[in-house]
Amino acid sequence: MERIYIFDTTLRDGEQSPGVSLNVKEKVQIAKQLVRLGVDVIEAGFPVASPGDFAAVAEIAKVVKGVRVCALARANFNDIDRAWEALQGAEQPRIHTFISTSDIHLKYQLRMSREQVLQAAREAVKRAKGYTADVEFSAMDAVRSDIDYLCRVLAAAIEAGATVVNIPDTVGYAVPEEFGEFIRAVQEMTPGIEKVTVSVHCHNDLGLAVANTLAAVKSGARQAEVTINGIGERAGNAALEELVMALYARRPLYGMVTGIKTEEIFRTSKLVATLTGMAVQPNKAIVGKNAFAHESGIHQDGVLKERTTYEIIDPAVIGIPKSSLVLGKHSGRHAFKQRLQELGYVLSEEELKTAFERFKELCDRKKAVTDDDLLALVEEEIGRVPPVYELKYLHVSSGTTITPTATVGLQVGDGVAEEAACGNGPVDAIYKAIDKITGIKCTLESYGIDAVTGGKDAVGSVMVRVSSEKGKTYLGRGLSTDVLEASARAYIDVLNKMAADSSQ
Ligand code: KIV
Ligand code: ZN
Repeated sequence: MERIYIFDTTLRDGEQSPGVSLNVKEKVQIAKQLVRLGVDVIEAGFPVASPGDFAAVAEIAKVVKGVRVCALARANFNDIDRAWEALQGAEQPRIHTFISTSDIHLKYQLRMSREQVLQAAREAVKRAKGYTADVEFSAMDAVRSDIDYLCRVLAAAIEAGATVVNIPDTVGYAVPEEFGEFIRAVQEMTPGIEKVTVSVHCHNDLGLAVANTLAAVKSGARQAEVTINGIGERAGNAALEELVMALYARRPLYGMVTGIKTEEIFRTSKLVATLTGMAVQPNKAIVGKNAFAHESGIHQDGVLKERTTYEIIDPAVIGIPKSSLVLGKHSGRHAFKQRLQELGYVLSEEELKTAFERFKELCDRKKAVTDDDLLALVEEEIGRVPPVYELKYLHVSSGTTITPTATVGLQVGDGVAEEAACGNGPVDAIYKAIDKITGIKCTLESYGIDAVTGGKDAVGSVMVRVSSEKGKTYLGRGLSTDVLEASARAYIDVLNKMAADSSQ
């Protein structure tokens, strides 16, 4: 069996999904989970893009071990120097430098000649190589490039020291047979390519990213660039879970293995969906809610008699829990901590303390606390920043014949600030009252509510997305069996994140 290397770019290309913005703490949590999942490379970010990106790459490089940590840089010295600075703490650093090779990008975007691009690629790789042995070069928009020219650029990058050459379908234009052929031809036509790892990076504009990646693997590519849940620019990237499970389910056909611990897939998918606010569609392959749900009587009958009649993968293989352990108000801190560990979460003492307090509050309102409730509580804790504002109390008056009004008390420093407001609904009234206290100016871009489990006593999970005056997006989450309280918590969470962001 040959090995396929999994390069995860959830934190870089995935974070480029419209509306997604993760803080450093959230990125570190995802990176740690990616290590548990067993990816080979984590592309942690694009350090030159913003101080926040730089800080996230630097922190991941410092705290995440046992994996290659990669930083992206355009093919210029400033980007590469910044990438290397951010990677200082990394055990196994990789610099990933890129430049476009298609004529359309050269003419309209870069305004550079082919020779200039070739020279920039060569110089960039040399610069990166001066810092680290592990250098990846990407020819952006490779699929729409003239193949002879593309191969010349790749050969120059290899000669300059690149150890991985990546051939992206940047705009998701390729189809599988053609892409497989393309990857084969590039390998035949590029001198020195046999000495390096060939990588592919497919976008999903035609819904073919995973199929194209598989075709490339058949043609000799040995690194696949993917994201959890397939998130990424526009229609996203090839989904890690789909690629890995296709190679797993069709092992005799491909003869390839990855280092992925498949039983961590479901948990990773949930974590990324929660922290990015990008919900997974129910019919999504592998990790969607319906991926293993059998609705038709004939299918149910078959699965009950023999699972493989209608299931090509055992859900346990991707870590879908068979049953959910129930905790209640008699469960102690030890049981709580242990169950979290079994679910894959190791919290700091401080995080554990807050999560346990929230768990006890929940037990007073809900008899049976399930694993889903626990996960929601923990995920609420993960992105939290030291709070400037905390909810002390909330009173709401609303109904069909009265104007909704809300009174909110927030702990701010040593004191409690109180304000009241009317709104066109109870949530609007709560948010207006909070705005009066904080004075923070922002626009509510979206508000979503979901029940964490079934049942009338379910915990409500509210997610809000707001944009600052500078146009930066933030995500806030709030949980409670009272959906108005959950709404207030989500809004306060997002305002705390804005207040904590020094780039604002
Ligand atoms: O889609 C793309 O071409 C990229 C490169 C930076 C690899 O994301
Ligand atoms: Zn991309």
